[in-house]
Amino acid sequence: MPGEKKSWKGIILAGGSGTRLYPLTVAVNKQLLPVYDKPMVYYPLTTLMLAGIREFVLISSPQALPQFQSCLGDGSQWGIRIDYAAQPAPEGIAQAFIIAEKFIVGHPTALILGDNLFYGTGLSSQFQRAIGRRDGATIFAYPVQQPEAFGIVTFDGEGAVLSLEEKPQKARSNLAVPGLYFYDADVLEIAKALKPSPRGELEITDLNRVYMERGKLRAEMLGRGSAWLDGGTPGTLFEASQFVMVMEQRTGLKIACPEEAAYRMEFISANALLALSRQMRNGEYASYLQKMITS
Ligand code: G1P
Repeated sequence: MPGEKKSWKGIILAGGSGTRLYPLTVAVNKQLLPVYDKPMVYYPLTTLMLAGIREFVLISSPQALPQFQSCLGDGSQWGIRIDYAAQPAPEGIAQAFIIAEKFIVGHPTALILGDNLFYGTGLSSQFQRAIGRRDGATIFAYPVQQPEAFGIVTFDGEGAVLSLEEKPQKARSNLAVPGLYFYDADVLEIAKALKPSPRGELEITDLNRVYMERGKLRAEMLGRGSAWLDGGTPGTLFEASQFVMVMEQRTGLKIACPEEAAYRMEFISANALLALSRQMRNGEYASYLQKMITS
């Protein structure tokens, strides 16, 4: 239908060989390892659910896809849809759009890296606002101590991006670009036109640079009180677990609980939530879900 608004799609890129976590990743994909009380992939998934996205494509290696399918299913239990697609070799973040082509063609699409964890007041509404924009792309900026390890951005007071560099030796700012990106429906064609970088990958920074050159790339700070973590090494994985444990034990509220996100976003009813909790029998996760309905 002309003028019909196409729904947002969410890509979760859960690839990579996880070599920095060896031997944890010999048998298990990195994004299925625990971050305190949940598999890592729950965190990016709920980030996008709370932004309002209901249709997902999870991309991982052919060997790991069955593991993800048994972890997440088709998403219907959470009122969402999850499709799966294989990335046979890690050939860059931007390749995700090409792999997901048949699911995303013509749709605005968000991409989140499977090991990125976001937490903080106001973040969900900030991401919901990004989804409200259907022209151009939105990325975020977060201060870090080691800019040479990330994509680095500078932007003006209006949020218009002025420069982007991937892992620069001498960075122009200490503002890293986290692994969460929102794009209009042009992203697929732009990804297809990219050339591999010297390290042989389709770089997300090169894709973002195309939006920047078109004057269509907006960057927003993630607020000072927010946390952006990843679980890429044994140390950062442990820190992420500790962070979630401290927050959850203090407040009694769970971070990245997809059942809760589905219920609060009204993707599922109270009865459906109750049924999910009953399937889990009597663990503390189940009683957390049951308390949500009664309180
Ligand atoms: C990737 C991106 C980089 C971004 C980072 C966020 O780097 O290339 O721009 O800042 O993710 O986690 P990677 O660490 O996957 O090489």
